[in-house]
Amino acid sequence: MGIVIENVIFNYPNGFCAIDDISISIERGEKVAIIGQNGAGKTTFVKMMNNLLRPNSGTVIVDDINLSDVTTAQISKKVGYVFQNPGDQLFNSTVFAEIAYNPRYRKLPESKVKELVEDAAALCGLTKYLKTNPYDLPFGLRKFVTIACVIAMGSEYIILDEPTAGQDLDGLKLQGDIITELIKRNKTVITITHDMEFVIDNFERIIVMADKKIVTDSNPHNVFWDFDVLETASLKQPSICKLGNELGITDIVTIDEFLQKVK
Ligand SMILES: Nc1ncnc2c1ncn2[C@@H]1O[C@H](COP(=O)(O)OP(=O)(O)OP(=O)(O)O)[C@@H](O)[C@H]1O
Ligand SMILES: [Mg+2]
Repeated sequence: MGIVIENVIFNYPNGFCAIDDISISIERGEKVAIIGQNGAGKTTFVKMMNNLLRPNSGTVIVDDINLSDVTTAQISKKVGYVFQNPGDQLFNSTVFAEIAYNPRYRKLPESKVKELVEDAAALCGLTKYLKTNPYDLPFGLRKFVTIACVIAMGSEYIILDEPTAGQDLDGLKLQGDIITELIKRNKTVITITHDMEFVIDNFERIIVMADKKIVTDSNPHNVFWDFDVLETASLKQPSICKLGNELGITDIVTIDEFLQKVK
């Protein structure tokens, strides 16, 4: 069980190669962060996990289903993808209707639809906005609407493409709480982000991408103290690591770890 990707290559129709021979496995129930500079291929890569894009060669297998054997519609409930830009995903006139769209499409009874919407809305801090038009919400909250939609779909694998973009501290904290709750519910969560502090606060496994490939697949300590990896992927060391480095305190990624080594 899980996602198994082998030797995947993806070229856009104009011939541009965006993914060049990636192999990786993600277990059921894992939470994984994907980081790397703009244009590294992160979005392209995750879109192949639910057939939004299909590789030119190589295989993507989810829970023993080879994605080349199924349609996007067949796999999109199992692997829910939250778009990088909420505008690509929102088209209903109220937050309730938006979150209810997939459960209604699946012809669930309206009482079950309501239950799913209320659960997802509560988890995403949207209960008081259910009657609001998603486009009347600020960008940060619109992102939560798109996350709630995928939660209400009941996807077992949830891919969040840059949920942290445009979020304030409360938004980031809530996203961390949502990910923790989804893992408790036995979901698998794959999150693309440019926020390194968010990564350290929420993830033990980090996949670093650069220039169409995976540079490393490791934990925060290994990633943020490997200067070759940081340079290759154009990543900045988080501030606490930089401070530690200046003081000769290495291999720390959190303030607590820093303080323990200082004492
Ligand atoms: N439709 C397309 N046609 C041709 N090239 C594309 C297309 N979409 C993306 N690309 C190119 O593929 C590469 C990877 O893009 P992708 O969106 O996967 O990167 P990313 O890592 O998600 O970047 P970001 O952090 O900016 O979201 C980039 O060079 C991009 O310009
Ligand atoms: Mg992207």
